[in-house]
Amino acid sequence: MNASEILGSLSYQERKVLLALAKLGDGASPEGIFEAGPFGQMVEVMNAASWLQSKGLITMEERGQKVYGLKAKDIAQRGLPERRALDYIGRNITVKMGDLDKALDKGEVPVAIGWLRKKNLVKMEKTQGETVITLTDAGKEALVQEMRDEALLKRMAVGEISERDAPADIIAQLKGRQDLITERLQVARKMSLTELGRQVLDLGVVLKEEVAQITPELLQSGKWKEVSFRRYDVRTFAPTEYAAKKHPLTRIADEVRRIFLQMGFTEIDEEYVQPAFWNMDTLFTPQDHPAREMQDTFYLKHPSKLSIADDEELIKKVRSIHETGGDSGSLGWRYKWSRAEAERALLRTHTTVNTIRYLAKHPNPPVKVFSLSRVFRKEAIDATHLPEFMQIEGIVMEETASFDMLVGILREFYSRMGFEDIRVRPGYFPYTEPSLEVEVLWNDKWMELGGAGIFRPEVTAPYGIKHPVLAWGQGFERLAMLRWGLKDIRELYATDMDLLRQSPIF
Ligand code: PHE
Repeated sequence: MNASEILGSLSYQERKVLLALAKLGDGASPEGIFEAGPFGQMVEVMNAASWLQSKGLITMEERGQKVYGLKAKDIAQRGLPERRALDYIGRNITVKMGDLDKALDKGEVPVAIGWLRKKNLVKMEKTQGETVITLTDAGKEALVQEMRDEALLKRMAVGEISERDAPADIIAQLKGRQDLITERLQVARKMSLTELGRQVLDLGVVLKEEVAQITPELLQSGKWKEVSFRRYDVRTFAPTEYAAKKHPLTRIADEVRRIFLQMGFTEIDEEYVQPAFWNMDTLFTPQDHPAREMQDTFYLKHPSKLSIADDEELIKKVRSIHETGGDSGSLGWRYKWSRAEAERALLRTHTTVNTIRYLAKHPNPPVKVFSLSRVFRKEAIDATHLPEFMQIEGIVMEETASFDMLVGILREFYSRMGFEDIRVRPGYFPYTEPSLEVEVLWNDKWMELGGAGIFRPEVTAPYGIKHPVLAWGQGFERLAMLRWGLKDIRELYATDMDLLRQSPIF
């Protein structure tokens, strides 16, 4: 905006402040402007001034300073206790300690004596068991002359004094006395015109009343023809309001859940802590599988072991499937299966625990369940890895379930999440055959998002399952990163307020 456009945008109050500032000159205070206006309320000055500031016409310098006022109001008239004592001593020939009671209130005597001595105004002499008080030279002088602290108190009685206008030593002294003066912090503001402010003033700022609101009366009376209307300026700054909203991750999780529920699935979950038996053995993962090793799995110390004995029949079947294939039609892994290894407690490394445990309890078709929950792996944290993350897991078991159906379900899920296309590559998991890896198309790039497959007979045989079980486990954070346009997975959990505020509600 140029100077004349800005001039056109100025409200009545802004014009008034600008003119007052031009009159008072740079360095004027809002209080000065308030009187020069004149304005009805201080907020009018402050509002207009902040608009003028945002339009670049004025600057406002703020400085904090301490101001002091009189708290013990009566002192201004009665005088300090030591002053009253001093005058009394001056009027009398010999004054003994006990006589001061006549000149002072109860309780003031020690205060008065303390300050008389501190200010070196009196001498005390003990004669014949009595203390006689006499004035020093300084005391005599003080009889006829106001002391510095008295002078300052007198000024404070009229109005507050800023630290700049008061001697620091006297202030310190007065502050040390009980309940005598008040201290508070005051912000002093100084306004000045900018170069642009001067240019606008040079164009000729005139004060005219403005109408900010059209009323029926204004229209009916025809007065609208004479008045000038306040202009809208859609370019002026206004603070952004950030509405409360759910965390983006929660919103994406809600979306995943809604999609599976709409597709006819039921949500399930299980404990984070599992015996290796359910995390691995029932999934036909051999006990020497590299993924079981310490660098991948968090094994627990307390408890280090979990009982798996609630179904000895199942344990026997799983053992024989691992060792010889049992009656699954497989040859098995051909090693000696260890129960102790299967009993080790761990943090689940995948949510396939959830689906296999569900399947064990629900061996009859149809089964359609999903879970969206947390898993744990010993990963070093970097831009694409976290030791804790979420998986989108699911199974479908029914008579006609097929590989095509599996790909179709995944395709449907991703398309409902806004990913236009997916493709599958062959993959490998000990518990599925065929196994596949899912890639989704995002911004013209294929991104790997998870695994899937059909459970092997070695997995389903112990439960007498006759029909195909389609299974998948997909990464949740990866999906969220793509949707949110993040390059670093850590940002999802970083609680960066700016990022959260700006996150779109999709
Ligand atoms: N559990 C696998 C993983 O964590 C994913 C998967 C689930 C693969 C089900 C096949 C079937 O990566």
